[in-house]
Amino acid sequence: MPYPRETDRYTKPAIFFHWAIFLLVALAYLAIEIRGPKGSDSRVFWSNVHFCAGNLVLGLAVLRLLWRLWAGAPAEIDTNRLLAFLARAAHLALYVFIFAQPLLGILMINAGGHPVTLAWVNVSYTLIGADPAARPLLKGAHEWLGNAFYWVIGLHALAAIAHHAIFKDRTLRRMI
Ligand code: HEM
Ligand code: HEM
Repeated sequence: MPYPRETDRYTKPAIFFHWAIFLLVALAYLAIEIRGPKGSDSRVFWSNVHFCAGNLVLGLAVLRLLWRLWAGAPAEIDTNRLLAFLARAAHLALYVFIFAQPLLGILMINAGGHPVTLAWVNVSYTLIGADPAARPLLKGAHEWLGNAFYWVIGLHALAAIAHHAIFKDRTLRRMI
């Protein structure tokens, strides 16, 4: 369903993917923050939540990208060139993040010699074999990207709220 000129809203599937992925990314961050000390039951439970949420992000990211390529996006709201550039750069970075971050997590676990196991659904899989040299690099990249994107996501959300509260345009409303 292409975007007709007279509408400036995202389609229902695009809105669903955006907010479902947001909630799952937030859950993945929360789970890591509250997982508790090594060896505790809480750590096992919240790590499992982290892995499941992260894998769902990756699955939904694939569907979301396909939908975006199929349906496109509404025309950009008129704004100055610098803000439009920053918004486009942030959106591109966020798309890369929802693929790269879960993949780094999965490869990190596999490189450590373990399959990725998704509790509750009894799924276990391996993409690459054990690689002791690559594991610390993958772990470092997963941690670095995870920490960097607290900022990118925070600024992206602040920009959306500023559009609504200060510029008073439709940017936020068309994603709801
Ligand atoms: C969008 C999804 C994801 C986000 C936002 C995310 C974010 C994070 C963050 C912020 C940390 C803590 C880094 C630190 O200690 O500073 C972490 C750790 C970890 N993540 Fe993820 N992650 C995601 C997906 C995944 C997936 C899919 C897996 C594997 C199936 C995974 C496996 C791990 C593991 C094993 C750790 C612990 C590393 C350690 O402390 O030894 N993550 N993740
Ligand atoms: C993990 C968190 C988030 C990710 C990964 C994310 C990702 C994205 C991406 C990739 C786009 C571009 C959509 C496209 O053109 O296909 C987008 C648009 C948008 N996001 Fe987010 N987002 C997140 C959180 C948020 C939050 C918390 C808010 C609001 C407070 C928000 C508000 C918006 C709005 C209003 C748009 C439409 C912008 C426009 O039409 O120019 N996002 N988001």
